[in-house]
Amino acid sequence: MNITMDEFKARRDKVLEKLAPNSIAILPAASIKQRNSDTEYPFRQNSDFYYLTGFNEADAVLVLSKGAQGQAQEYVHGFTLFCLPKDETAELWTGKRAGMDGAKRLYGADAAYPLAEIDRHLPAMLQNKTKLYYHFAEEQEFDKRLNAWLKQAKQKALASGRATGQKSNSFPEAMVDISAIVHELRLYKSALEVETMRRGAKISADAHTKLMRTVKPGLNERQVEAEFIYQIMQQGCKTVAYTTIVGGGANACTLHYTANDAVLQAGDLVLIDAGGEYNNYAADITRTFPINGKFTVAQAAIYNLVLAAQQQGIKAAQPGQRWSAIQEAIVEVIVAGLRELNILQGTQQQLIKKQAYRRFYMHSSGHWLGLDTHDVGKYRLQGDYRVLELGMVLTVEPGLYFAADDATIDAKWRGIGVRIEDDVLITATGNEVLTAAAPKTIAEIEALMIG
Ligand code: GLY
Ligand code: MN
Ligand code: MN
Repeated sequence: MNITMDEFKARRDKVLEKLAPNSIAILPAASIKQRNSDTEYPFRQNSDFYYLTGFNEADAVLVLSKGAQGQAQEYVHGFTLFCLPKDETAELWTGKRAGMDGAKRLYGADAAYPLAEIDRHLPAMLQNKTKLYYHFAEEQEFDKRLNAWLKQAKQKALASGRATGQKSNSFPEAMVDISAIVHELRLYKSALEVETMRRGAKISADAHTKLMRTVKPGLNERQVEAEFIYQIMQQGCKTVAYTTIVGGGANACTLHYTANDAVLQAGDLVLIDAGGEYNNYAADITRTFPINGKFTVAQAAIYNLVLAAQQQGIKAAQPGQRWSAIQEAIVEVIVAGLRELNILQGTQQQLIKKQAYRRFYMHSSGHWLGLDTHDVGKYRLQGDYRVLELGMVLTVEPGLYFAADDATIDAKWRGIGVRIEDDVLITATGNEVLTAAAPKTIAEIEALMIG
């Protein structure tokens, strides 16, 4: 299930194919970020860097070089990795490193150099290249270093021009954002990526199921978060894919609620938006259920409406359908339901046109999912929403949120917040819900919670 060295190579080859002749791509790994004094945040690799290397060490630099003349042979083509060299003392403190030998043997680098030597190699590697591919303006420190290398390369080019009396043209003339190339590739998941995501989705779905068994009145939201993290880490996730949301009662109406410090009350719902990160790939699931195991009539009405909308949204997630078809399907159901419950008044068409539902459903249908929770990839191509294709993975996550102090709605709805979110793979003939193992009908949830 691990992504193989061959697959990482195939990804780099696809990028190389798309680069202009005589060009170079430079992609830095993530750095370790300081939390305070000499304590650091847990390290998380840059997703584009990981996608092209599988290399999980900080501060490394990937260089892809495509054919140019007039350079030392070692720079001419392929994959160069700059990384930390083996060092027994340093490794005793901070852990094992692949080193130069490992970079070649385990990660398929054609050439590998110690990071400390990068200032010597990079200017030479930039020589005779016409285009430079890079992530602009993401890491200020790295931008500065790149500028210094470019300056050296430029000065060398000018000096050689003076020496030969010929106009030198051996310095990158254009910089291109590499994101467009890498992000388009990342949008289409391979069989191994799907396997990885299936596993992460199952672990996360099982953890949500466990929470339905664990939650009871009197627990603190934080204890529920702790149980989720415990469950996914027990099953092999390194961490969560994003900050866990556990919102009891009206806290569910704060879309990105992360305080997670209130006591759960009998009679309220709890909304849990939580997913594990498995081998660097994200799962993203939301379930909403009653803290005491039994939906009230009002809660059930809202819940079943969101569920019906989500089911229609998932149905619309088909190859050949546009991205926007999912939201359109959801909105049809939500508006019809809100009219039926007399929360909205007016014709279906008018209410959709006026987006009257946005008071209660104010977000979109979901997002791409992959190495990032809100994964990369364009939603529109040439202005139109793109068509869904085999291998894309996305979330479908409608919700309805009725603020506790909304005097314009019947009191029985106030403080109810429901979201239901699943991860959906587009297949050749339809889709596969990767997170299907987490119960979501009222009958399933109540049976699980109160038997
Ligand atoms: N958990 C973040 C989201 O659902 O988009
Ligand atoms: Mn999501
Ligand atoms: Mn989510």
